[in-house]
Amino acid sequence: MKVSVKVPATSANLGPGFDCFGLALPIYNTITIEETVLPGSGIEINIIANSNDAGTAFIDDIPRDENNLAYKAIELLYNSIGQEPSELKINIQSEIPIARGLGSSASVIVGALLAANKLHGFPADETALISMATEVEGHPDNVTPAILGGVVFSSVEEDGSIVYRKLKWPADWDLTVCIPDFELSTSISRSVIPKEIPLSDAVYNLKHSAMLIHAIETADDELMTRALNDKIHQPYRIKLIPGMAEIVSSLKIEAGILGCVLSGAGPTLMVISKGYNTEKIKSKVKEIWEGFSITADIRTLKVEEQGAVILENG
Ligand code: HSE
Repeated sequence: MKVSVKVPATSANLGPGFDCFGLALPIYNTITIEETVLPGSGIEINIIANSNDAGTAFIDDIPRDENNLAYKAIELLYNSIGQEPSELKINIQSEIPIARGLGSSASVIVGALLAANKLHGFPADETALISMATEVEGHPDNVTPAILGGVVFSSVEEDGSIVYRKLKWPADWDLTVCIPDFELSTSISRSVIPKEIPLSDAVYNLKHSAMLIHAIETADDELMTRALNDKIHQPYRIKLIPGMAEIVSSLKIEAGILGCVLSGAGPTLMVISKGYNTEKIKSKVKEIWEGFSITADIRTLKVEEQGAVILENG
C-alpha cells in the first residue's frame, strides 16, 4: 500500500514568538511512503526537488538511511504500536525551498508521520502526531501549523504535553515572503543566540507576544506594528543575513507595512502588510539584496488555512 501526504510550508516565530508561533504557507511538499513487498529491499529514500531552488545543493547532505527525518518520524509511529519499520520506500517531492526558514524539514516529518499513521489505520490522534513530530523536530512551532494549517502557538509543557491553539489571521493581511538564494542551516542560526538572555529582553518579548496574540485576534493593525518586535533571536541572527538590517529599516517608514520578520531561523524574510502595493515591497527588497549580490524569489501569499492532507490517489 502507498500513501501520499501534501504538507504546507511554515514560517515560525513571527517576531517575538520564538519557538512558539508559526503559520502555514501555500507552498507544499508531498511525501509518499510505501511498504514494499520485496523482503530484504530495506529503506529507499528519494528526494525530488524543484530545480529552481538554488538550495538543492543541500539535498546531497540529507541522509538516505535511518538518520533521515522522515524515517525517524515513521519509526516513532511504528514504535508507538509496538512495531519496527522494515521494507520502506519514501519519496519526497520538494517544492519548499530547503534550509531557508520555511519549515521544509517539519513538512517532511509531518508528511511521513501522517502517511505512516494512515498505513496503520490511524492509531495516533492529532495530539499524539504533534507530540511525535515535535520529538523529531525539537520544537513545535513549525510542525503544529504544518499539521493544522493557519496560525498557531504551541508550547511543550514540563510534563511533556503540548498545548496549542489556532488563531484567526486577518484576511486582509498579506505576507510577502522574500527567499534569498543562499541557505542557512537552523543549527548555525540557533548557535548565535546566547543560552541566557537579559531579564529585560525576556520581559520585552513577553509583552510583545501578548500584543501579537491580541493584534491577530482583533485585526489591530496599529498594535501589530509594535507587536512584531523581538529581542530574543533576531538581533543575534541579523548578522547572518546580509542586507536584513537595510531591508528592515527601509520598510519601517512605510504606512501599510506592519512589520518585517525573519521566517523561522532564516534567511527568508517575511513582510506583513495591509492594503499596500506589494510590488513595491518586492522591488525594494530585490534592489537592496542586489546591492549585496543576492538574488531572491519573492512571493506575496495568504496564510494556508488547511494543514497536511492525505491525498486520495496516494
Ligand atoms: N523556532 C525555530 C528557530 C524555527 O527560530 O530556530 C526553526 O526551525
